[in-house]
Amino acid sequence: MSFNPLEEKGIPLEKQMRNWHQIVGEPYNKTAVDCYTRTRQILMNGIEVQAWGFKHQMNRFMSELDCEDRANISRIGRIENTQQMTANWMGPADQSVLEITLGYEQVAVDLTAWLAQNEPDKYVKETFDFGLLEDFDHLYRYAQFAYMTEGIEPEDIVQGKTDVIVGRPTQHHHNCNGLRLRKHYDKNAASPQTKVNILTVLSGEQQTHNFYAEHGFMYGDHILRETYAEIKDVEEEHVTMYESLIDPSETMWEKFLLHEFTEVCNYYTCMEDEVDERIKKYWEIALDMEIGHLKIAAEMFKKYEKRDPEEVIGSGIVIPCRFKSQKSYVQKILEAETNKRLAPEGEYYSSYGEIPEDWASYKVQEKVAEISAPSENAIRLIDIYYDRDIVSASEGLKKKEIEILEKGLQEKSIAHNTVTSGELRDMIKKHENRKEEKERLI
Ligand SMILES: [Fe+2]
Ligand SMILES: [Fe+2]
Ligand SMILES: [Fe+2]
Ligand SMILES: [Fe+2]
Repeated sequence: MSFNPLEEKGIPLEKQMRNWHQIVGEPYNKTAVDCYTRTRQILMNGIEVQAWGFKHQMNRFMSELDCEDRANISRIGRIENTQQMTANWMGPADQSVLEITLGYEQVAVDLTAWLAQNEPDKYVKETFDFGLLEDFDHLYRYAQFAYMTEGIEPEDIVQGKTDVIVGRPTQHHHNCNGLRLRKHYDKNAASPQTKVNILTVLSGEQQTHNFYAEHGFMYGDHILRETYAEIKDVEEEHVTMYESLIDPSETMWEKFLLHEFTEVCNYYTCMEDEVDERIKKYWEIALDMEIGHLKIAAEMFKKYEKRDPEEVIGSGIVIPCRFKSQKSYVQKILEAETNKRLAPEGEYYSSYGEIPEDWASYKVQEKVAEISAPSENAIRLIDIYYDRDIVSASEGLKKKEIEILEKGLQEKSIAHNTVTSGELRDMIKKHENRKEEKERLI
């Protein structure tokens, strides 16, 4: 790719301050917005939260910084703060927490699926595929509540671009955090694409965690509150999992470069893909700001590490987040890997028979679902509302739902309120039988 951000002009830091009107901007219309404009907006909020927090970590932990560099880092942090507002506040006030939540999980599914297919490191790809099936199931669980509490069909948010159907059941996502730790890349051997891919998904997952932490309590329905708590905890595991892929020996200077480079790459992609002309103009401005940040990071890298920044970020942009429908790829992974589980030392079990009796995650799963698994109650409740679960998928995939669930459900340490594949089959039959009857009634 020919775009080398270090050779671009960008906007110098001293010209990046904007007024309140520009910072806040106008929200999009939730009924007219393209679903991938929404996913870009959600992802860029997460990227900015991470970029902002990292500047504060630099100033808190780096004793070697001289006064002027410390001041510049705090100036950049302030700009990240304004960029975060612009991205997040593109969301309109009439979008409910559940609607935004479906947007967050659509980000996770379609971003992770894109990354998995564009990841040069096979082991990192495997980790993306593993996380993908968990967020895929979150989307399905939340879709039940969106229908029950707000009358929202999944298509209203995902616009037919992402399938909504059972994945690896959420109750099986709870692990001993030690098992979540994966093997990290070697910073001297990994490609800039791998580093940017990981930082992108990590920022998204962290923001998803934060959003559920800050908003999950905003509903009165206690099963929905518990479901937010349950899924928020999985997002915490996802943060642990994705951050463990990063070489811990990377210096703060390398990380600074990578953070700014990741922002540049993401805004570049947003700018290229955006269909809303007004928002596209903003992505372009934000890209130019990030080029300004990257240049400063590159100068500091040369000054303190006495190395060439291209050793870390290469000489061209990488594409981390081309948002588009990933249905066929996701379906392939869904059919093959719902029974995959985490093994020690960054390995995986690919069948239940390989899992030892003393697997550390059993204890966690048994404890948290001691009373019940909220994500299973979601399906028990929707049975009452709709006679079956809410799904949005092709007829072909819908026919495979029982099989997918059967494969994904593990017998040991299963929650007592689990909806079994047999029960789901009965629900679907009941729905079919009563559909015509209900339609006849006025
Ligand atoms: Fe930024
Ligand atoms: Fe998720
Ligand atoms: Fe996640
Ligand atoms: Fe930045």
